[in-house]
Amino acid sequence: MSELPRTFVLIKPDAVRRGLVGEVLSRFERKGLQIVAMKQVQVSGELADQHYAEHLERDFYPPLRAFVTSGPSVALVLTGDQVVETVRLMNGATDGRKAAPGTIRGDLSLSNRENLVHGSDSAESAEREIALWFPELEPVEGRA
Ligand code: TYD
Ligand code: MG
Repeated sequence: MSELPRTFVLIKPDAVRRGLVGEVLSRFERKGLQIVAMKQVQVSGELADQHYAEHLERDFYPPLRAFVTSGPSVALVLTGDQVVETVRLMNGATDGRKAAPGTIRGDLSLSNRENLVHGSDSAESAEREIALWFPELEPVEGRA
């Protein structure tokens, strides 16, 4: 495949409230990833349910839904070499208290819920999430 892979990133409401949007964007830009789409979004409960479909039955989902709809977020599509894996590495482990220093969560979050950033976990998830959050973007032929 000649085209670079894409991933979906959500800069969550805690990052917006804390004034960390620039910090998070800057890390991805300095790494060499390209921002190919970006918008501020007030996430609805319905969008949260679709995005987190795999977690709907989990005990942590109701407070997660309340959190992700609690204020504006910034949604991004990033591209670059191995971008799905690279963003997951840069985000760090889910629980900010356990995420490695040097990662976004490890440096900036102390929470297992308010962990600043989402990154797609596979190429298939990325294409599903991009279609959900950016229906205005063209699907790319041959992508998962
Ligand atoms: P998950 O997909 O497991 O993590 P990741 O964002 O690293 O892919 O979970 C989705 C989000 O749900 C996670 O970013 C934070 C929240 N969450 C909780 O609030 N409590 C939990 O115990 C877990 C596992 C996740
Ligand atoms: Mg996940």
